[in-house]
Amino acid sequence: MDFVQSRQLAPNLVYVAEAGSTNTDLVAAAAAHPSDFDHFSVLVTDNQTAGRGRIGREWVTPPGASLAVSVLLRPKFAATAFGWLPLLAGLAMSRTVQRLLPERNDVGLKWPNDVLVAGQKISGVLSELLPDLSGVVVGAGLNVLQTAEQLPVDTATSLALAGQKTEINLDGALAIYLTELRELSADLEAAGGDAVASGLRDAVIQNCVTIGQTVRAIMPGDSEVVGTAVAIDNSGRLLISSGLSGQLTAVAAGDIVHLRLAN
Ligand code: BTN
Repeated sequence: MDFVQSRQLAPNLVYVAEAGSTNTDLVAAAAAHPSDFDHFSVLVTDNQTAGRGRIGREWVTPPGASLAVSVLLRPKFAATAFGWLPLLAGLAMSRTVQRLLPERNDVGLKWPNDVLVAGQKISGVLSELLPDLSGVVVGAGLNVLQTAEQLPVDTATSLALAGQKTEINLDGALAIYLTELRELSADLEAAGGDAVASGLRDAVIQNCVTIGQTVRAIMPGDSEVVGTAVAIDNSGRLLISSGLSGQLTAVAAGDIVHLRLAN
């Protein structure tokens, strides 16, 4: 498969007909040959056989039905601001899905970086730091052509199921994602990694369907908090207000469940 449009946006793009995990492969290659892998090196496949998700989960896709793409970001700002890159990639993918499904108004980001369509997951992002801390590989999976039977869980969806009308073209979808990712990372770079000054924090909040929801946050170590997601702080953490006092908990990592409480 040729990715002509995408290659114009990322000249160092490699398509492979099959990969175990594009994240594992790109991290390993960039660590072994750093000078061959510059900012915006891309590894993409439509047949990922051992996809990895957040929190040690699997990312399962049938051959030929989805996009698995990993992009190496080598920002010039301090590694202390790298924490915003997973949210940035999630926002880029959310905007991509919004552009691919222009008739829908129910596409948005679930903190930190899932993309939902009417509450169903269409994309997830797994970000991994290079061992020498010189960059981050952001890996995104986008469900494109899957039928309901081909999705691993009934809380997932694909562009085809969500009603994409035009012919679905993996290169076209990837080109939109790379455009959004480049623009957001250039803005963050221009602001020296300051997500507030670059407008990234506001843009994430605006796109984030978690804000305002009743949620359960399951944090590392299995501690939990249930409350209302009220904001994202300057470090990208989700702020949850709970109890009568509205005590705020800042969640840096973990699993968020959107709760629909019965009236
Ligand atoms: C999640 O929702 O838990 C994250 C899923 C991330 C999947 C992508 S597909 C491309 C890249 N390679 C992987 O092994 N995982 C990411």
